[in-house]
Amino acid sequence: MNAKATTKDTAFRLMTTQLLFAPFRGITHKAYRNAFARHIGSIDVFYAPFISGQDRIHPSKLQDILPAEENAAHTVPQVLSNNAGEIIELGNVLASHGYKHLNWNLGCPFARIANKKKGCGMLPYPLKMEHILSQVSGAMNIALSVKTRLGHHHPEEIIKILEVLNQFPIQHVVVHPRTGKQVYTGKADPLWYAECLKISKHPLIYNGDIFNLAQYNKLKTLFPGQSEWMLGRGALINPFLASEIRGKTLSTDEKRVKLLAFHHEMWVHARAKTMNQQKRIGSMKAIWHYMSGILQNSSEAFLHIKRSVTDKAYLTAVNKALQQDFATEEQIESHFLKLTKQ
Ligand SMILES: Cc1cc2nc3c(=O)[nH]c(=O)nc-3n(C[C@H](O)[C@H](O)[C@H](O)COP(=O)(O)O)c2cc1C
Repeated sequence: MNAKATTKDTAFRLMTTQLLFAPFRGITHKAYRNAFARHIGSIDVFYAPFISGQDRIHPSKLQDILPAEENAAHTVPQVLSNNAGEIIELGNVLASHGYKHLNWNLGCPFARIANKKKGCGMLPYPLKMEHILSQVSGAMNIALSVKTRLGHHHPEEIIKILEVLNQFPIQHVVVHPRTGKQVYTGKADPLWYAECLKISKHPLIYNGDIFNLAQYNKLKTLFPGQSEWMLGRGALINPFLASEIRGKTLSTDEKRVKLLAFHHEMWVHARAKTMNQQKRIGSMKAIWHYMSGILQNSSEAFLHIKRSVTDKAYLTAVNKALQQDFATEEQIESHFLKLTKQ
């Protein structure tokens, strides 16, 4: 791991608010990230969805992050693995392509992954994690950071996890203060994040339930020293959340123009990627599942998009949706709470 990069990064992180875009498998792929960076902006770093393998990562899995020159913005690749050899090999391949930083996923909550002691399934096994980190340390020419939940079954699991991480040169730890058991529902718990701040020797990044500006401001009041925030579904719903946090107010027309351009670039890419109409519309529906929440009448907009089976019907539904007024902060909050079943 690259200790120099860590020190430099630490000095930089003390100066400014850094807004990171969380990884979303099936949504924030390269086309999404690049279109976002070009047309929406205000994000400092995009974390790419996880790459995983079975003991070795097949080169085809790297298409989302290679060649690195295709990234329109600073991008951090992520690995989901419980195998030191696999992490080291991937880290060194990425380093040879110019990447400086790899993120390790210790949060994925899905049973088929967690049951294999991967993602949040690693969290009840701090000794296993220590063993992996002792092999990885010094064997990679790239810095390592971690993205974790509080635990698989219990939030207390995070205590031992952070104590183990403290022994290694980790660039930072992104904490999503939910347990794996919660999956993506219920509330993230900022009080547990406060506990993590007491224990961790590494810089921490907050991720969870930042669904609108008011919520960001609440969290900022709770954690005034916090300068790095990872935006999740809040930014999928409202792509302008990062601009709003930065104090940039856009008119309705400006937002509409930017959203049209953002969508257009993703759609052009989806059409070029697959001849299969259902498949490309399906990939866009995954985006609209969240992004429809930026519209006043989100349910109606999403219903029309969801029902479309041809390109023509899909584009008609999108154009109609984007003529709607934008949702208020409260409406965005209720869209988020519905998603998280709160
Ligand atoms: C559909 C979906 C896909 C996700 N994919 C990833 C992933 O690839 N890697 C990861 O670390 N987290 C992944 N996450 C978790 C998010 O990055 C984020 O941590 C989570 O949504 C909590 O933040 P939020 O409450 O602000 O949304 C995913 C979440 C969802 C809902």
